[in-house]
Amino acid sequence: MKPIQVGLLGIGTVGSGTFNVLKRNQEEITRRAGRGIEITMVADLDVARARAVVGEGVQVVNDAAAVIANPDIDVVIELIGGYGIAKKLVLDAIAAGKHVVTANKALLAVHGTEIFAAASAKGVVVAFEAAVAGGIPIIKALREGLTANRIQWIAGIINGTTNFILSEMRDKGLDFDVVLKEAQRLGYAEADPTFDIEGVDAAHKVTLMSAIAFGIPVQFDKAHVEGITQLAAADIRYAEQLGYRIKLLGITKRTAKGVELRVHPSLVPTKRLLANVEGAMNAVVVNGDAVGTTLYYGKGAGSEPTASAVVADLVDITRLHTADPQHRVPHLAFQPSAISDEIVLPMSEVVTSYYLRLRVADEAGVLAQVTGILAHAGISIDAVLQREADEVGGEGATSTDLIILTHDTREGTMNEAMATMQALPTVLAPITRIRKEELA
Ligand code: HSE
Repeated sequence: MKPIQVGLLGIGTVGSGTFNVLKRNQEEITRRAGRGIEITMVADLDVARARAVVGEGVQVVNDAAAVIANPDIDVVIELIGGYGIAKKLVLDAIAAGKHVVTANKALLAVHGTEIFAAASAKGVVVAFEAAVAGGIPIIKALREGLTANRIQWIAGIINGTTNFILSEMRDKGLDFDVVLKEAQRLGYAEADPTFDIEGVDAAHKVTLMSAIAFGIPVQFDKAHVEGITQLAAADIRYAEQLGYRIKLLGITKRTAKGVELRVHPSLVPTKRLLANVEGAMNAVVVNGDAVGTTLYYGKGAGSEPTASAVVADLVDITRLHTADPQHRVPHLAFQPSAISDEIVLPMSEVVTSYYLRLRVADEAGVLAQVTGILAHAGISIDAVLQREADEVGGEGATSTDLIILTHDTREGTMNEAMATMQALPTVLAPITRIRKEELA
């Protein structure tokens, strides 16, 4: 049978990896797919770089539209990224009746509803395994492997840059700004790391997982997004003393009131496997009612790890190419007619536990004032850690850090209690609040 012909839009790090993996493993991939898969056309603004990667025998152009217009191309791989031109190209490829493989989490998290509807109407597939956690086959696991389950929650370390920074902060006792500069110097963090450090990249990914897990539309605008820029080395140290590590988690959870969808730094008990995922690695924990808790670990970025996911999608599409669209795996795991309108909860309705750090005057009655406010709000305390003032501020210091771990409470209640504590004259600096997930 004639090989499937693939057009590649953007041949940077992941595009080169995809080309190389397909070529190197061509024989085994063909035995698996039942048909050859060939990249026959590449579009990149840097034609010389593209030519250097693919050699002769592949058509190289600088205009992505030419790939979409080519009637011989069966599948388009979009590796340009972003919401701009990539959106138009993906919609144009769908309109031209081509299947699409993309690693573009931002595009799908924000415009997924429109894109999946267009693909369904046209009877083509938009595959996006590479969009979440790079080489880890988490989309496949959620959509197919765990299809028997009612998924209860997902918690993941799904941004390698921030996990690398947090690991370095903990190992070396350094503050965020210092580690970020070092990560940029070493090439672990991008020159503009905003999407990573502000939690936006992780929020794109957890938005996609949430939709697949719970059969709801992709709703990035409903996600609570908080990054790691405000974390201090002191909080990492205090958390450690209490038996926790701080990780940037993407969390989505089913509750009686609706779906939680949030990204923020979280204390995770040190004994959990997730707390021990270090450096740029990714890991996702999924809890389903039948299977219990499962863990998926691997490289969340990089040339060939991400290519591994892109090529897996190409093989799936090759196998499905002739299947009746009604009998394909739905984009969001649930049939389009069965997508639910269950609400995504505002953050004030989320119930979780907390780490609080208060810089307080080291004088009689302060602890009682603070715990009194929590008691009045009905917030139960799990642990308290108070350091001697001179341990924190040096000899003669008159202020100290008061660390409180709470049991579960509604975030709205915690916000009110924090405002009351903040107004005490003995609370000397903005209170640090980090959420805590037991993940039991
Ligand atoms: N920038 C991401 C990370 C990889 O640091 O994990 C691509 O999503």
